[in-house]
Amino acid sequence: MGQVLRIGLIGCGTVGQGVVRLIRSEGDAIEAKTGLRLELARVADTNLAAPGLVGVPEDRITADANDLFADPSIDVIVELVGGTTVAREFVLKALQSGKDVVTANKALLARYSREIYAAARASGRCIGFEASCGGGIPLILPLRSGLVANRIHAIYGILNGTCNYILTEMSAKGKSYAEALAEAQAAGYAELDPGTDVQGHDTAHKLAVLASMAFCCDVDLDRVHVEGIEHLDACDLQAGRELGYVCKLLGIADQTDAGLSLRVHPSFVRADHPLAGTNGSFNAVSIYGNWVGHTLFYGRGAGSRPTASAVVADLVDVGVGNAARTFERFRTLNDRTPPPTYAPIEALRTRYYVRIMAVDQPGVMARITRVFGDRDIGLRAVTQHENEDGEPSAVVPVVVLTHETTEGQMRAALEVISRLEVVRARPVMIRLVQEHEEYAEPGVNPS
Ligand code: HSE
Repeated sequence: MGQVLRIGLIGCGTVGQGVVRLIRSEGDAIEAKTGLRLELARVADTNLAAPGLVGVPEDRITADANDLFADPSIDVIVELVGGTTVAREFVLKALQSGKDVVTANKALLARYSREIYAAARASGRCIGFEASCGGGIPLILPLRSGLVANRIHAIYGILNGTCNYILTEMSAKGKSYAEALAEAQAAGYAELDPGTDVQGHDTAHKLAVLASMAFCCDVDLDRVHVEGIEHLDACDLQAGRELGYVCKLLGIADQTDAGLSLRVHPSFVRADHPLAGTNGSFNAVSIYGNWVGHTLFYGRGAGSRPTASAVVADLVDVGVGNAARTFERFRTLNDRTPPPTYAPIEALRTRYYVRIMAVDQPGVMARITRVFGDRDIGLRAVTQHENEDGEPSAVVPVVVLTHETTEGQMRAALEVISRLEVVRARPVMIRLVQEHEEYAEPGVNPS
């Protein structure tokens, strides 16, 4: 008989059930390929009925995760509880009891990876976290292995399946925000609290994990600028489409002259942008390296089967010893890397879409455009839709696309515009994100 990896699974929800099913149906094929037998020793869930739904025998189910830590025959704990409270406690206990850990928990790693990696080293164990970013898409392994020869310049990612599903349904099918969110939840894409998805925090967690590895630095989650999709208005998605743009929630980590820029925000990308065709629950992540250039990773970023695929990949990585070797040797994880220099959001240089609700009367357009001009913000397109019923002084949307400017200048201009008495609501601003220059290196002129 070949080698056996005895697994303790904590949390048998959407992803946990996927892991159980995958091991049952693919275990033999995985053993044939790798010589490693995956054996599900014990499953813990406070809902004792959940593991039974996917055929786990009763004598292997417990409500108490401590039973798993106390079982010396278990080699590795898979943590799929989510959140940062009991999950943190479980991961630390698993490591202290001499077990390796595989987790899909990006919120935990984004906040506590320094502590968790240090605890793993103190116990001589390792952590696998492929499933934490991009669901089934391999991203952690490429950063650790296939791209290791590169200095990474930038990451642009659609990293939340729920948000991408909602934006796709709203803009392509005209569904309401609430309807699209309910569908994403029913399909098992959303976090327990969907606020984490739609407010952009889940994307920020994944961005922090990826950026830490890619740029070999200890990212502070609180330094990621985060804006979600919950306040987006369908009329802006529609206006963007008419101008040739699609709206995506992007997580961006970009090495700039001002430092590492980390941001999550709704973004208009042109229809020919590499990320524009990523629809539904799919994720896509562009990683730019100084030798490889642009690489693009695409796949299902959420859901039971894809995420289980990544969890089991980590189990094999742990079982055959790859995870332990690189974890022990590399100096790429937060507990062994310095903090980066952060670029302030005000230093960001980009183009903007702005919608201003203004009174339709003589001189209004001139007043608005003057505010931009006074701050050296060039306008590339200005559109005012006709006030169809012809009422005098009706309020109409004025849509402006700017040339590149700084966020600081744009914020100052919008502050002034929102105080004009002819403007009736806070202007809406969505950043226009262009394709990253393939070999752009801060401070170096390409030769
Ligand atoms: N809630 C996440 C998403 C699940 O929608 O992408 C995967 O992390």
